[in-house]
Amino acid sequence: MDGTGPSRTAWSAAVHRATHQVLESGTIFADPLAVTILGDAAALDDPRSADRSRMRLFIAARHGIGARVVDRAVAAGTTQVVILGAGLDTTAYRPVAPPRVFEVDHPSTQEWKQAQLAQVGLEPTSDVAYVGVDFERESFLERLIASGYDASLPAVYLWLGVVPYLTASAIAETLSVVGGLPGAELVLDYAAPREHLDDADAQARDRAISKVEAIGEPWLSFFTPPQMRDLLNDNGFGEIDDLTARQAIDRVLGREEIPEQRSAGHIVHARR
Ligand SMILES: C[S@@+](CC[C@H](N)C(=O)[O-])C[C@H]1O[C@@H](n2cnc3c(N)ncnc32)[C@H](O)[C@@H]1O
Repeated sequence: MDGTGPSRTAWSAAVHRATHQVLESGTIFADPLAVTILGDAAALDDPRSADRSRMRLFIAARHGIGARVVDRAVAAGTTQVVILGAGLDTTAYRPVAPPRVFEVDHPSTQEWKQAQLAQVGLEPTSDVAYVGVDFERESFLERLIASGYDASLPAVYLWLGVVPYLTASAIAETLSVVGGLPGAELVLDYAAPREHLDDADAQARDRAISKVEAIGEPWLSFFTPPQMRDLLNDNGFGEIDDLTARQAIDRVLGREEIPEQRSAGHIVHARR
């Protein structure tokens, strides 16, 4: 995306999280503000769309894993959470929130989010800093530090729904920064290349990609699991848990009752 206007895919991801609260009662990812942050404009998804339901459950799974990692780290004493490409993420506004949250995003998306927060009357519960960055052009660490981030302390980085939209060089640059920080752990999601999908998954993915291309936010990067593992290893991450949405929902989040959903996406929890 060129960053001249707010991210429309950020709105779409927020609609998926809100719809998940209503259709599946937030059973994979419980977000008390997912509907609130959409405001009066709240338009939930059509439950009959198989494509939307596949994407909704993948998004719920990635945020479910992210929230679990954040909760555990905060319970163990971590105070800093950095949300790269935050969009309408509600972590910093929930009744129970991490002490310090850094939202890193395109300035235009941040301005839009702040207007949306004001319109629906949401105030941060965390001590929150907004760090405006274009991952394609700028390194975020200096700005993070200027906003009060302490690079010597542990932190959880959430990078959800962002990697596919970036070039390989911007992804490598961000991983080299996060992988170089002591005590950093990272949750990200990525998409597998088309040739690694079966026909039904590939066709569903083609439809999703045409939609985001049409709104000016094309997917640029795809990885096989070994490619992502090598990239993470090369950037200092030694412990890598790479899950499909199904594995995340079943094994980690313990929600076997959710009906079978296929998805081409992967969710990674990586530590140094
Ligand atoms: C699909 S949205 C995901 C938002 C949020 N993480 C979520 O899961 O709802 C993609 C986010 O990445 C941000 N983004 C995309 N390209 C970016 C770039 N080059 N620099 C900074 N942010 C970018 C967009 O502004 C948007 O907030």
